[in-house]
Amino acid sequence: MNHVSLSNYSKKGEVPTHIAIIASLMNELVENKIDLHQALLKLKIPHKMPRGRYSDTKSIRYKKSMELFSESQPNQAELYISENRPELSNTSHRIISLFSGCGGMDLGFTGGFEFLGRHYEKLGFDIIWANELNANACKTYRENLDKEIVEGDIWEVMDDIPREADVVIGGFPCQDISVNGNGAGINGKRSGLYRAMVEVVKRVRPRIFIAENVKGLMTKKHKSDLETVIADFSSLGYKVRYDLYNSADYGVPQTRERVLIVGTLPSMEEFIPPEPLLSKESHVTALQALSDLESLDEDPSFNHIWSKANRSPEQGDRRLKKDRPGYTIRAECHGNIQWHYNLPRRMSMREAARIQSFPDSFIFRSKLRETERQVGNAVPPVLAWHVASKIKSLLE
Ligand SMILES: C[S@@+](CC[C@H](N)C(=O)[O-])C[C@H]1O[C@@H](n2cnc3c(N)ncnc32)[C@H](O)[C@@H]1O
Repeated sequence: MNHVSLSNYSKKGEVPTHIAIIASLMNELVENKIDLHQALLKLKIPHKMPRGRYSDTKSIRYKKSMELFSESQPNQAELYISENRPELSNTSHRIISLFSGCGGMDLGFTGGFEFLGRHYEKLGFDIIWANELNANACKTYRENLDKEIVEGDIWEVMDDIPREADVVIGGFPCQDISVNGNGAGINGKRSGLYRAMVEVVKRVRPRIFIAENVKGLMTKKHKSDLETVIADFSSLGYKVRYDLYNSADYGVPQTRERVLIVGTLPSMEEFIPPEPLLSKESHVTALQALSDLESLDEDPSFNHIWSKANRSPEQGDRRLKKDRPGYTIRAECHGNIQWHYNLPRRMSMREAARIQSFPDSFIFRSKLRETERQVGNAVPPVLAWHVASKIKSLLE
Protein backbone atom coordinates (compact mmCIF):
# COMPACT_ATOMS: atom_id res chain seq x y z
CA MET A 1 0.00 0.00 0.00
CA ASN A 2 1.27 3.43 -0.85
CA HIS A 3 1.11 6.64 1.02
CA VAL A 4 -0.95 9.38 -0.56
CA SER A 5 1.10 12.03 -2.25
CA LEU A 6 -0.42 15.43 -2.79
CA SER A 7 1.76 16.23 -5.75
CA ASN A 8 -0.83 14.95 -8.22
CA TYR A 9 -3.40 17.29 -6.84
CA SER A 10 -1.64 20.54 -7.26
CA LYS A 11 0.65 21.45 -10.06
CA LYS A 12 0.98 24.96 -8.65
CA GLY A 13 1.80 23.81 -5.16
CA GLU A 14 -1.60 24.76 -3.79
CA VAL A 15 -3.48 21.95 -2.14
CA PRO A 16 -7.17 22.47 -1.46
CA THR A 17 -7.79 22.11 2.27
CA HIS A 18 -10.30 19.28 2.07
CA ILE A 19 -7.93 17.24 -0.09
CA ALA A 20 -5.06 17.84 2.30
CA ILE A 21 -7.22 16.64 5.20
CA ILE A 22 -8.32 13.56 3.32
CA ALA A 23 -4.76 12.79 2.27
CA SER A 24 -3.51 13.01 5.81
CA LEU A 25 -6.31 10.71 6.96
CA MET A 26 -5.47 8.32 4.18
CA ASN A 27 -1.90 8.17 5.33
CA GLU A 28 -3.07 7.42 8.85
CA LEU A 29 -5.19 4.66 7.38
CA VAL A 30 -2.26 3.24 5.44
CA GLU A 31 -0.23 3.18 8.65
CA ASN A 32 -3.12 1.53 10.48
CA LYS A 33 -3.26 4.40 12.96
CA ILE A 34 -6.97 4.69 12.41
CA ASP A 35 -9.53 2.44 10.80
CA LEU A 36 -11.86 3.25 7.94
CA HIS A 37 -14.75 3.97 10.28
CA GLN A 38 -12.73 6.51 12.25
CA ALA A 39 -11.47 8.11 9.04
CA LEU A 40 -15.01 8.52 7.80
CA LEU A 41 -16.12 10.02 11.08
CA LYS A 42 -13.29 12.54 10.94
CA LEU A 43 -14.37 13.46 7.43
CA LYS A 44 -17.91 13.89 8.77
CA ILE A 45 -19.03 11.28 6.30
CA PRO A 46 -21.61 9.07 7.99
CA HIS A 47 -20.49 5.49 7.83
CA LYS A 48 -23.77 4.74 6.15
CA MET A 49 -24.49 7.30 3.50
CA PRO A 50 -28.16 8.25 3.52
CA ARG A 51 -30.19 6.64 0.78
CA GLY A 52 -31.22 8.64 -2.26
CA ARG A 53 -29.35 11.30 -4.14
CA TYR A 54 -26.70 13.20 -2.27
CA SER A 55 -26.59 16.90 -1.77
CA ASP A 56 -23.73 18.53 -3.64
CA THR A 57 -21.51 18.91 -0.60
CA LYS A 58 -21.92 15.33 0.47
CA SER A 59 -21.45 14.22 -3.08
CA ILE A 60 -18.20 16.10 -3.52
CA ARG A 61 -16.85 14.85 -0.23
CA TYR A 62 -17.84 11.32 -1.08
CA LYS A 63 -16.23 11.47 -4.51
CA LYS A 64 -13.01 13.05 -3.33
CA SER A 65 -12.59 10.49 -0.64
CA MET A 66 -13.40 7.78 -3.14
CA GLU A 67 -10.67 8.98 -5.44
CA LEU A 68 -8.17 8.80 -2.67
CA PHE A 69 -9.37 5.51 -1.33
CA SER A 70 -9.17 3.99 -4.77
CA GLU A 71 -5.62 5.11 -5.21
CA SER A 72 -4.16 3.96 -1.96
CA GLN A 73 -6.55 1.41 -0.52
CA PRO A 74 -8.49 -0.32 -3.24
CA ASN A 75 -9.93 -2.95 -0.92
CA GLN A 76 -11.15 -0.41 1.60
CA ALA A 77 -12.55 1.66 -1.21
CA GLU A 78 -14.43 -1.29 -2.56
CA LEU A 79 -15.89 -2.09 0.83
CA TYR A 80 -16.88 1.50 1.27
CA ILE A 81 -18.44 1.78 -2.16
CA SER A 82 -20.47 -1.38 -1.78
CA GLU A 83 -21.65 -0.43 1.71
CA ASN A 84 -22.48 3.17 0.98
CA ARG A 85 -23.78 3.36 -2.52
CA PRO A 86 -27.25 4.85 -2.41
CA GLU A 87 -29.93 2.36 -3.33
CA LEU A 88 -31.14 2.68 -6.87
CA SER A 89 -34.74 3.62 -7.27
CA ASN A 90 -36.92 0.75 -8.38
CA THR A 91 -37.68 2.34 -11.66
CA SER A 92 -34.56 3.85 -13.09
CA HIS A 93 -30.85 3.46 -13.48
CA ARG A 94 -29.40 6.82 -14.39
CA ILE A 95 -27.45 6.99 -17.63
CA ILE A 96 -25.05 9.59 -18.94
CA SER A 97 -24.81 9.20 -22.70
CA LEU A 98 -21.82 10.51 -24.64
CA PHE A 99 -21.39 10.80 -28.42
CA SER A 100 -25.08 10.00 -28.56
CA GLY A 101 -25.60 10.57 -32.30
CA CYS A 102 -29.25 10.24 -33.27
CA GLY A 103 -29.76 7.92 -30.29
CA GLY A 104 -29.51 4.33 -31.56
CA MET A 105 -27.73 3.04 -28.48
CA ASP A 106 -29.87 5.22 -26.21
CA LEU A 107 -33.08 3.86 -27.71
CA GLY A 108 -31.82 0.34 -27.06
CA PHE A 109 -31.14 1.14 -23.41
CA THR A 110 -34.49 2.86 -23.03
CA GLY A 111 -36.53 0.13 -24.72
CA GLY A 112 -40.27 0.45 -25.34
CA PHE A 113 -40.20 0.00 -29.12
CA GLU A 114 -41.32 -2.43 -31.81
CA PHE A 115 -39.12 -4.01 -34.44
CA LEU A 116 -40.26 -6.58 -37.02
CA GLY A 117 -43.25 -7.59 -34.95
CA ARG A 118 -41.44 -7.94 -31.65
CA HIS A 119 -41.90 -5.64 -28.70
CA TYR A 120 -38.73 -4.62 -26.87
CA GLU A 121 -39.96 -3.65 -23.45
CA LYS A 122 -38.80 -0.65 -21.44
CA LEU A 123 -35.79 -1.54 -19.36
CA GLY A 124 -35.92 1.01 -16.56
CA PHE A 125 -32.96 3.14 -17.59
CA ASP A 126 -33.30 6.91 -17.48
CA ILE A 127 -31.00 9.04 -19.62
CA ILE A 128 -30.29 12.00 -17.35
CA TRP A 129 -27.75 13.71 -19.61
CA ALA A 130 -26.72 13.24 -23.23
CA ASN A 131 -24.29 15.07 -25.50
CA GLU A 132 -23.66 15.23 -29.23
CA LEU A 133 -21.77 17.62 -31.48
CA ASN A 134 -23.88 17.34 -34.62
CA ALA A 135 -26.94 19.63 -34.62
CA ASN A 136 -29.01 17.45 -36.97
CA ALA A 137 -28.38 14.34 -34.91
CA CYS A 138 -29.47 16.30 -31.81
CA LYS A 139 -32.70 17.25 -33.55
CA THR A 140 -33.47 13.61 -34.39
CA TYR A 141 -32.52 12.60 -30.85
CA ARG A 142 -34.80 15.13 -29.15
CA GLU A 143 -37.81 14.17 -31.19
CA ASN A 144 -37.46 10.42 -30.92
CA LEU A 145 -36.05 9.95 -27.46
CA ASP A 146 -38.21 12.74 -26.09
CA LYS A 147 -35.20 13.89 -24.08
CA GLU A 148 -33.06 16.96 -24.01
CA ILE A 149 -29.54 16.56 -25.38
CA VAL A 150 -26.68 19.01 -24.95
CA GLU A 151 -25.33 20.06 -28.32
CA GLY A 152 -21.61 20.82 -28.38
CA ASP A 153 -18.07 19.51 -28.11
CA ILE A 154 -17.78 17.09 -25.20
CA TRP A 155 -14.66 18.79 -23.84
CA GLU A 156 -16.46 22.12 -23.72
CA VAL A 157 -19.49 20.87 -21.85
CA MET A 158 -17.63 18.45 -19.58
CA ASP A 159 -18.08 20.59 -16.48
CA ASP A 160 -21.88 20.50 -16.83
CA ILE A 161 -22.05 16.74 -16.54
CA PRO A 162 -24.11 15.55 -13.55
CA ARG A 163 -21.97 14.39 -10.68
CA GLU A 164 -23.65 11.04 -10.38
CA ALA A 165 -24.99 8.33 -12.63
CA ASP A 166 -25.18 4.56 -12.53
CA VAL A 167 -24.13 3.97 -16.10
CA VAL A 168 -22.05 5.86 -18.67
CA ILE A 169 -22.49 4.84 -22.30
CA GLY A 170 -20.86 6.13 -25.47
CA GLY A 171 -19.72 5.13 -28.93
CA PHE A 172 -16.65 7.28 -29.34
CA PRO A 173 -15.93 8.35 -32.93
CA CYS A 174 -14.34 5.59 -34.96
CA GLN A 175 -13.16 7.17 -38.21
CA ASP A 176 -9.48 6.95 -37.28
CA ILE A 177 -9.83 3.26 -36.49
CA SER A 178 -12.32 2.15 -39.12
CA VAL A 179 -10.94 0.08 -42.03
CA ASN A 180 -12.09 2.87 -44.33
CA GLY A 181 -10.44 5.55 -42.20
CA ASN A 182 -7.01 7.14 -42.18
CA GLY A 183 -5.51 4.63 -39.74
CA ALA A 184 -4.37 7.30 -37.25
CA GLY A 185 -5.87 5.25 -34.41
CA ILE A 186 -6.33 6.79 -30.98
CA ASN A 187 -3.85 9.49 -31.83
CA GLY A 188 -6.27 10.72 -34.47
CA LYS A 189 -8.34 13.78 -33.70
CA ARG A 190 -11.63 11.92 -33.60
CA SER A 191 -10.89 8.52 -32.07
CA GLY A 192 -8.69 10.27 -29.49
CA LEU A 193 -12.01 11.48 -28.09
CA TYR A 194 -12.22 8.26 -26.11
CA ARG A 195 -10.15 10.21 -23.57
CA ALA A 196 -13.19 12.38 -22.93
CA MET A 197 -15.09 9.25 -21.99
CA VAL A 198 -12.28 8.17 -19.67
CA GLU A 199 -12.47 11.59 -18.02
CA VAL A 200 -16.25 11.35 -17.56
CA VAL A 201 -15.94 7.88 -16.02
CA LYS A 202 -13.25 9.24 -13.71
CA ARG A 203 -15.45 12.12 -12.58
CA VAL A 204 -18.74 10.28 -12.26
CA ARG A 205 -17.58 6.84 -11.14
CA PRO A 206 -20.61 5.00 -12.53
CA ARG A 207 -21.17 1.40 -11.53
CA ILE A 208 -20.71 0.35 -15.12
CA PHE A 209 -19.67 1.90 -18.41
CA ILE A 210 -20.03 0.72 -21.99
CA ALA A 211 -17.88 2.08 -24.81
CA GLU A 212 -18.66 1.03 -28.35
CA ASN A 213 -16.37 1.03 -31.36
CA VAL A 214 -15.64 -0.64 -34.68
CA LYS A 215 -14.13 -4.10 -35.15
CA GLY A 216 -10.98 -2.40 -36.46
CA LEU A 217 -10.01 -1.72 -32.86
CA MET A 218 -9.41 -5.46 -32.47
CA THR A 219 -7.19 -5.82 -35.51
CA LYS A 220 -3.43 -6.30 -35.35
CA LYS A 221 -2.88 -2.80 -36.67
CA HIS A 222 -4.68 -1.24 -33.69
CA LYS A 223 -3.48 -3.71 -31.04
CA SER A 224 -1.58 -1.08 -29.09
CA ASP A 225 -4.49 1.38 -29.43
CA LEU A 226 -6.83 -1.14 -27.85
CA GLU A 227 -4.31 -1.88 -25.11
CA THR A 228 -4.01 1.82 -24.33
CA VAL A 229 -7.78 2.31 -24.22
CA ILE A 230 -8.18 -0.68 -21.89
CA ALA A 231 -5.28 0.45 -19.71
CA ASP A 232 -6.69 3.98 -19.41
CA PHE A 233 -10.10 2.72 -18.31
CA SER A 234 -8.59 0.05 -16.04
CA SER A 235 -6.43 2.64 -14.30
CA LEU A 236 -9.64 4.12 -12.90
CA GLY A 237 -10.13 0.97 -10.84
CA TYR A 238 -12.62 -0.84 -13.09
CA LYS A 239 -12.68 -4.45 -14.23
CA VAL A 240 -12.63 -4.01 -17.98
CA ARG A 241 -13.40 -6.50 -20.73
CA TYR A 242 -13.97 -6.21 -24.43
CA ASP A 243 -15.94 -8.45 -26.76
CA LEU A 244 -16.86 -8.54 -30.40
CA TYR A 245 -20.57 -8.75 -31.17
CA ASN A 246 -22.15 -9.70 -34.47
CA SER A 247 -25.44 -7.77 -34.55
CA ALA A 248 -27.07 -10.48 -36.69
CA ASP A 249 -26.72 -12.96 -33.82
CA TYR A 250 -29.15 -10.81 -31.81
CA GLY A 251 -31.92 -10.37 -34.38
CA VAL A 252 -30.58 -7.36 -36.30
CA PRO A 253 -30.83 -7.95 -40.07
CA GLN A 254 -27.20 -6.90 -40.56
CA THR A 255 -23.82 -8.54 -40.08
CA ARG A 256 -22.48 -5.45 -38.34
CA GLU A 257 -19.65 -6.34 -35.97
CA ARG A 258 -18.81 -4.02 -33.13
CA VAL A 259 -16.54 -4.06 -30.09
CA LEU A 260 -18.05 -3.25 -26.73
CA ILE A 261 -15.70 -2.35 -23.92
CA VAL A 262 -17.46 -2.82 -20.60
CA GLY A 263 -16.10 -1.73 -17.24
CA THR A 264 -17.58 -2.66 -13.89
CA LEU A 265 -16.64 -1.67 -10.35
CA PRO A 266 -14.69 -4.49 -8.73
CA SER A 267 -17.48 -5.08 -6.20
CA MET A 268 -19.91 -5.98 -8.97
CA GLU A 269 -20.51 -9.32 -10.55
CA GLU A 270 -18.59 -9.73 -13.78
CA PHE A 271 -20.37 -8.60 -16.92
CA ILE A 272 -20.87 -11.49 -19.34
CA PRO A 273 -22.13 -10.60 -22.84
CA PRO A 274 -25.62 -11.81 -23.70
CA GLU A 275 -25.60 -15.19 -25.42
CA PRO A 276 -26.14 -15.01 -29.20
CA LEU A 277 -29.80 -15.74 -29.94
CA LEU A 278 -29.61 -16.82 -33.56
CA SER A 279 -27.31 -19.11 -35.49
CA LYS A 280 -25.99 -18.08 -38.89
CA GLU A 281 -28.69 -20.16 -40.58
CA SER A 282 -31.47 -18.36 -38.73
CA HIS A 283 -30.25 -14.77 -39.09
CA VAL A 284 -32.95 -12.31 -40.17
CA THR A 285 -32.59 -11.74 -43.91
CA ALA A 286 -32.87 -8.55 -45.95
CA LEU A 287 -36.02 -9.96 -47.57
CA GLN A 288 -37.63 -10.56 -44.18
CA ALA A 289 -36.70 -7.07 -43.05
CA LEU A 290 -37.62 -5.08 -46.15
CA SER A 291 -40.11 -6.90 -48.38
CA ASP A 292 -43.17 -4.92 -47.23
CA LEU A 293 -41.51 -1.67 -48.36
CA GLU A 294 -40.90 -2.81 -51.94
CA SER A 295 -44.11 -1.35 -53.38
CA LEU A 296 -43.89 1.92 -51.48
CA ASP A 297 -43.27 5.18 -53.39
CA GLU A 298 -40.71 7.65 -52.12
CA ASP A 299 -42.07 9.33 -48.99
CA PRO A 300 -39.86 11.87 -47.22
CA SER A 301 -42.12 11.98 -44.17
CA PHE A 302 -41.21 8.31 -43.57
CA ASN A 303 -37.55 8.74 -44.63
CA HIS A 304 -38.31 6.48 -47.57
CA ILE A 305 -35.98 8.38 -49.90
CA TRP A 306 -32.92 7.09 -51.73
CA SER A 307 -29.73 8.36 -53.27
CA LYS A 308 -29.75 8.53 -57.08
CA ALA A 309 -25.95 8.20 -57.28
CA ASN A 310 -24.92 5.97 -60.20
CA ARG A 311 -23.01 2.76 -59.72
CA SER A 312 -19.38 3.40 -59.03
CA PRO A 313 -16.36 1.30 -58.14
CA GLU A 314 -16.30 2.84 -54.68
CA GLN A 315 -16.77 0.94 -51.45
CA GLY A 316 -20.29 0.57 -50.14
CA ASP A 317 -21.66 -0.01 -53.61
CA ARG A 318 -22.75 -3.61 -53.10
CA ARG A 319 -26.18 -5.07 -53.71
CA LEU A 320 -27.94 -6.67 -50.76
CA LYS A 321 -28.58 -10.39 -50.98
CA LYS A 322 -32.18 -11.14 -50.15
CA ASP A 323 -31.49 -14.39 -48.33
CA ARG A 324 -28.90 -13.01 -45.94
CA PRO A 325 -28.69 -10.07 -43.53
CA GLY A 326 -27.54 -6.70 -44.87
CA TYR A 327 -23.90 -5.64 -44.94
CA THR A 328 -22.63 -3.08 -42.46
CA ILE A 329 -24.33 0.26 -43.02
CA ARG A 330 -21.68 2.96 -43.07
CA ALA A 331 -21.89 6.59 -42.08
CA GLU A 332 -19.57 8.11 -44.65
CA CYS A 333 -20.89 6.55 -47.82
CA HIS A 334 -21.59 9.79 -49.72
CA GLY A 335 -24.60 8.41 -51.52
CA ASN A 336 -22.97 5.06 -52.16
CA ILE A 337 -25.32 3.29 -49.85
CA GLN A 338 -25.87 -0.32 -50.89
CA TRP A 339 -28.37 -1.33 -53.58
CA HIS A 340 -31.73 -2.93 -52.94
CA TYR A 341 -31.62 -6.71 -53.38
CA ASN A 342 -34.43 -6.59 -55.94
CA LEU A 343 -35.16 -3.08 -57.16
CA PRO A 344 -33.14 -0.90 -59.59
CA ARG A 345 -32.23 1.60 -56.91
CA ARG A 346 -30.21 2.04 -53.79
CA MET A 347 -31.72 1.31 -50.39
CA SER A 348 -33.92 4.00 -49.00
CA MET A 349 -33.09 5.63 -45.67
CA ARG A 350 -36.08 3.83 -44.12
CA GLU A 351 -34.70 0.53 -45.41
CA ALA A 352 -31.26 1.38 -44.05
CA ALA A 353 -32.88 2.22 -40.72
CA ARG A 354 -34.63 -1.19 -40.78
CA ILE A 355 -31.31 -2.92 -41.52
CA GLN A 356 -30.04 -1.11 -38.42
CA SER A 357 -33.12 -2.30 -36.43
CA PHE A 358 -34.66 1.13 -35.87
CA PRO A 359 -38.44 0.96 -35.40
CA ASP A 360 -40.54 2.56 -38.15
CA SER A 361 -41.76 5.09 -35.61
CA PHE A 362 -38.21 6.52 -35.41
CA ILE A 363 -38.15 9.46 -37.82
CA PHE A 364 -34.86 11.08 -38.85
CA ARG A 365 -35.17 14.86 -38.92
CA SER A 366 -32.66 15.50 -41.65
CA LYS A 367 -32.04 15.34 -45.39
CA LEU A 368 -30.61 12.33 -47.20
CA ARG A 369 -26.85 12.68 -46.62
CA GLU A 370 -27.26 13.65 -43.01
CA THR A 371 -29.71 10.80 -42.42
CA GLU A 372 -27.20 8.40 -43.98
CA ARG A 373 -24.68 9.59 -41.44
CA GLN A 374 -26.99 9.25 -38.46
CA VAL A 375 -28.22 5.80 -39.47
CA GLY A 376 -24.72 4.57 -40.34
CA ASN A 377 -23.18 5.85 -37.11
CA ALA A 378 -25.69 4.18 -34.83
CA VAL A 379 -25.46 1.17 -32.60
CA PRO A 380 -28.38 -1.04 -33.69
CA PRO A 381 -31.07 -0.44 -31.05
CA VAL A 382 -31.92 -4.15 -30.90
CA LEU A 383 -28.29 -5.09 -30.16
CA ALA A 384 -28.09 -2.32 -27.55
CA TRP A 385 -31.36 -3.56 -26.00
CA HIS A 386 -29.95 -7.06 -25.45
CA VAL A 387 -26.77 -5.70 -23.91
CA ALA A 388 -28.79 -3.28 -21.76
CA SER A 389 -31.02 -6.14 -20.51
CA LYS A 390 -27.91 -7.95 -19.33
CA ILE A 391 -26.65 -4.81 -17.62
CA LYS A 392 -30.00 -4.26 -15.97
CA SER A 393 -29.84 -7.70 -14.37
CA LEU A 394 -26.33 -6.92 -13.16
CA LEU A 395 -27.45 -3.68 -11.52
CA GLU A 396 -30.45 -5.15 -9.70
C1 LIG B 1 -20.25 6.52 -33.60
S1 LIG B 1 -21.24 7.95 -33.44
C2 LIG B 1 -22.26 7.51 -32.09
C3 LIG B 1 -23.59 6.96 -32.47
C4 LIG B 1 -24.52 6.66 -31.33
N1 LIG B 1 -23.87 5.85 -30.33
C5 LIG B 1 -25.78 5.95 -31.78
O1 LIG B 1 -25.98 4.79 -31.39
O2 LIG B 1 -26.57 6.54 -32.52
C6 LIG B 1 -20.14 9.12 -32.75
C7 LIG B 1 -20.76 10.47 -32.54
O3 LIG B 1 -19.82 11.32 -31.89
C8 LIG B 1 -20.10 12.65 -32.30
N2 LIG B 1 -18.95 13.50 -31.98
C9 LIG B 1 -17.79 13.65 -32.70
N3 LIG B 1 -16.98 14.52 -32.10
C10 LIG B 1 -17.60 14.94 -30.97
C11 LIG B 1 -17.25 15.83 -29.94
N4 LIG B 1 -16.09 16.47 -29.95
N5 LIG B 1 -18.13 16.04 -28.94
C12 LIG B 1 -19.33 15.40 -28.93
N6 LIG B 1 -19.72 14.53 -29.88
C13 LIG B 1 -18.86 14.29 -30.89
C14 LIG B 1 -20.36 12.49 -33.79
O4 LIG B 1 -21.09 13.60 -34.32
C15 LIG B 1 -21.13 11.18 -33.84
O5 LIG B 1 -22.52 11.40 -33.87
